[in-house]
Amino acid sequence: MNRKAYKPHPEESLVLNKQGDAGRVEEQSVSVQVMIPMELDPKMRVIGFFALDNEELPEGSQKNLNEITGTPFKAELAGLTVFVGPVVQNLQDNYIKALFSLADSIDRCDQSAHSQTTALWSRRIAQCMQLSSEEVEEITLAARLHDVGKAVVPREILVKPGPLSENEWSIIRHHADYSATLMDPSPGLKNIKLIVLAHHEYYNGCGYPRNLRGEEIPQGARILAVADAYSTMTTGRAYRPPISPEQAKLELMRCSGTQFDPEVVKVMIKLLGRYQFF
Ligand SMILES: [Fe+2]
Ligand SMILES: [Fe+2]
Repeated sequence: MNRKAYKPHPEESLVLNKQGDAGRVEEQSVSVQVMIPMELDPKMRVIGFFALDNEELPEGSQKNLNEITGTPFKAELAGLTVFVGPVVQNLQDNYIKALFSLADSIDRCDQSAHSQTTALWSRRIAQCMQLSSEEVEEITLAARLHDVGKAVVPREILVKPGPLSENEWSIIRHHADYSATLMDPSPGLKNIKLIVLAHHEYYNGCGYPRNLRGEEIPQGARILAVADAYSTMTTGRAYRPPISPEQAKLELMRCSGTQFDPEVVKVMIKLLGRYQFF
């Protein structure tokens, strides 16, 4: 039985203990990535990793892997090597492609095209606000990937047909943080991460996870929030049926200045007239 997926230099390796802690990270450079074994096949070979930047693991202290990965630690993973090393560019590209697949699988979970429609409306808003083409591309990509963190939320919660309990909501509310953590392994997603992390912040400071308000919220996230809400309202959720585009428009207007940036809502209303709600 091959228990070690990869054998790096001894100083670069960490070994999972029985509690699921990865021990200490010693003097690694910031460009180093950490690959934590997460899935084994029936022959106990590693077939899945969770990848993150080593900054997530505080130096000189331990951090439970549950907090990092958002999933329960499996006892059979104890003793496996955690790979720590640089990530090469073609792996970076593959990593972003893997995130696209993850976004698609979340969409399939609630039988929607939510990430695609949110990206479409985010792009339209950003273009209409005459942002630079680079910013438009960043916002579109952030919109496409904004909910990938739902991949670590239990599926039963994502597809639960009835109202969610307070505890279930608190798990769902972590998805913005999880999405941002999933951006960590790719330096190319640094700006995207800031937008994704803030996509549930409210303009009045009552959102999550950081209670940012007004212009503290990155502009891309203020745009994404409006596109996200419109897509969610018009496609519905497992626990809530969809509402009509006209009702969704009224809801955006009602929440302008509280949940949403009024400037962004103004642009969205103009676009809804132009595109006839789609
Ligand atoms: Fe979200
Ligand atoms: Fe969303």
